[in-house]
Amino acid sequence: MKCHCEALRRVIEIYVSGYQADLSKYKRTKESRSNHHRFVPAWNSINIIDTLSYLRKLLIRRMPKESNMKSVKFIDCGCGIGNITILAYAAGFDVTGIEYDLATYKVAERLRQPGSKVIRGDITTYGNYADYDVIYFYVPMICSKKMKKFLNRAMNDMKVGAFIISYGAYYGDYIRKDKRFEHKKNKVGAMFEKVKEINNK
Ligand SMILES: C[S@@+](CC[C@H](N)C(=O)[O-])C[C@H]1O[C@@H](n2cnc3c(N)ncnc32)[C@H](O)[C@@H]1O
Repeated sequence: MKCHCEALRRVIEIYVSGYQADLSKYKRTKESRSNHHRFVPAWNSINIIDTLSYLRKLLIRRMPKESNMKSVKFIDCGCGIGNITILAYAAGFDVTGIEYDLATYKVAERLRQPGSKVIRGDITTYGNYADYDVIYFYVPMICSKKMKKFLNRAMNDMKVGAFIISYGAYYGDYIRKDKRFEHKKNKVGAMFEKVKEINNK
């Protein structure tokens, strides 16, 4: 298993760095430079594989017998070229990526796995977080005001029982302080489950 994961990690990293080099040829607008990070992939996909498999086991234990992983909806907020959505797809999730930057979105659309979705959109205004069981992000924006706008929307709209994963633990403290969320695991940074709707004790 360890050997398979290592092979998968290497393939993904080689393939991601090729596309990253391609994307660096595109000029960015002033607006996208000041508000949005360029596509920078999560640096250690082995941690993500581990976290997704932990989450997969936990969800399978909880789900009704007649259900399967394809009923578990995963979204990568700021999916870049889709590197994480490919891993989530391999773990069996029903996957969606949302990406703002046009050139990056086009690559994600080209690499999209059968049945997965890629949306060109803005995660700060996206209106369907309630549909997902797992919301993943890796610091999409530089601007902390925008990051909080995105987080507040996702954290308010997501359903009880859904998970939010912050790769690298960016804004982990922000989520941890909110009493609606319970800290689950620390491998990729921070993973939280929404356990109630109201932010009290
Ligand atoms: C740091 S990369 C993360 C890529 C991938 N999710 C990962 O974990 O490897 C952040 C991505 O978020 C995108 N992004 C930034 N702001 C966004 C926004 N408001 N809406 C959608 N995507 C956004 C960027 O274009 C970039 O591709």
